[in-house]
Amino acid sequence: MSARVHGLVREFGGRRILDDLDLTIGDGEFVALLGRSGSGKSTLLRLLAGLDSAGDTGVSGTVEVPGSVAVAFQEPRLLPWRVVRDNVSLGLHRDLGGDTAARVAERALAEVGLTERADAWPLTLSGGEAQRASLARALVREPQLLLLDEPFGALDALTRITMHRLVLDLWRRHRPGVLLVTHDVDEALLLADRVLVLADGRIAAEHHPGDRPRDADRLAPLRRTVLDELGVEVTDAA
Ligand SMILES: Nc1ncnc2c1ncn2[C@@H]1O[C@H](COP(=O)(O)OP(=O)(O)OP(=O)(O)O)[C@@H](O)[C@H]1O
Ligand SMILES: [Mg+2]
Repeated sequence: MSARVHGLVREFGGRRILDDLDLTIGDGEFVALLGRSGSGKSTLLRLLAGLDSAGDTGVSGTVEVPGSVAVAFQEPRLLPWRVVRDNVSLGLHRDLGGDTAARVAERALAEVGLTERADAWPLTLSGGEAQRASLARALVREPQLLLLDEPFGALDALTRITMHRLVLDLWRRHRPGVLLVTHDVDEALLLADRVLVLADGRIAAEHHPGDRPRDADRLAPLRRTVLDELGVEVTDAA
């Protein structure tokens, strides 16, 4: 199991954001999480990432995650005073089996197509390149659970398509369990094994988009259902 959450409650100053939430992510399973803005997606992800913990005030329930968890956020959060390679290798303490951290970082950068930018300063990267660096930084940890919080939200449509391919590729190669938080219904239906909708503090709906590669026409009815669950009105003009 990549993650198991049971009876999770999260309150902020008496406002209940997560309300008795249950969630399981299987080994190597790719799960997408949709939900309206403010529904608690990032709150859930932070608890899975261990950035907030079950011991904090306002939190109850259980969260079980594997030993190695990596996170990538919407903003790549690279340290501007370190070159890309050093950002990727930062804090690598595990036994590298004779490899240097720099070599491991270089391998990860090659996987995301960023070899040529290894010595670049983060501020000189394009948005897509910075997001690739952030994925490489997550990958070098060989995570059993990869948490992605709207990692492509700030990218242009073309770059986003390239990144979708890259993430599917990396997932197939490394097979971590993935929880991808996104606003984008099409992205969720395209990438994930299972698509969840968070509403009223729990998983309110669950869908299986089916075999890959996926076809937009075949997914159209499911897309409408999910938009409906999110409270988005679908008109034929849109
Ligand atoms: N540290 C905090 N203190 C108080 N309230 C918080 C805190 N963190 C989150 N919240 C509240 O919890 C609710 C859920 O926030 P969260 O960031 O999880 O939403 P989200 O689903 O990720 O939204 P978005 O799609 O806009 O990113 C919001 O109303 C937010 O204001
Ligand atoms: Mg969020």
